[in-house]
Amino acid sequence: MTSSTIAIIGGTGLNQMAELAPLDERRPVTPYGETSAPLQLLQRDGVAFWFLARHGQPHRIPPHRVNYRANLWALRDAGVREVIAVNAVGGITERAATGAVVVPDQIVDYTYGREHTFYDGVVGLRSDMAQHGVTCAAALEHVDFGEPYSAGLRQRLLEAAQAAGVAAVDGGVYGATQGPRLETAAEIRRMERDGCDLVGMTGMPEAALARELGLAYAALCLVVNPAAGKAPGEITMADIQRVLEQGMGQVTAVLSSFLKR
Ligand code: HPA
Repeated sequence: MTSSTIAIIGGTGLNQMAELAPLDERRPVTPYGETSAPLQLLQRDGVAFWFLARHGQPHRIPPHRVNYRANLWALRDAGVREVIAVNAVGGITERAATGAVVVPDQIVDYTYGREHTFYDGVVGLRSDMAQHGVTCAAALEHVDFGEPYSAGLRQRLLEAAQAAGVAAVDGGVYGATQGPRLETAAEIRRMERDGCDLVGMTGMPEAALARELGLAYAALCLVVNPAAGKAPGEITMADIQRVLEQGMGQVTAVLSSFLKR
């Protein structure tokens, strides 16, 4: 049976990316509940990969309600080792102009009240580890997260972008906010002082959960609007939609190039 060790988690604007009907489709129930959508084994240019629509298919789950734990757990159970997250984000600094594709290298987490770890009880990772003879969970629960994204996966994404003729920005700090509302201008000024280049609502706890499971994880971010206070006027969904439609082609070009390599 065909499978793949690569997964793409599609965000806003990338709800599906099939060329053909799925080779396989699973609706796993994990110790943490159900995933946002079925896991679909798709192929592009003959290369298979797992695809998961973070906000559901159709798009209906807001960022703070996404079951990030179930999503990552199910992908790992399907044999995935590498996860590429696609995120639509707001741009704070010059390196994040509207329409830019950015491969961030750091995170500041401003989210709260989300299920953000597998190390919080008896289900899931602990019992899984026990089955594998790991008895000292405490030794594992403080995972290193100094470099939150996989350096190797980031590098391969950047090379894929170059091969696809997409001028992706190498590095940037992703500030993860709670949403679903957008930020105030003062919040964005604070984030800028904190060193954030990008603002999005779904980058965390996804990246940290991937690390807890030992999955290589990197993000491909499309800047769809100037963050609050960074341009005159309101941020409208119509403006965001327009940039998404123009920019997602670049994101899928990078992903196709990545899969072929
Ligand atoms: N803020 C937070 N998340 C976002 C934004 C934003 O401006 N744009 C797209 N996702």
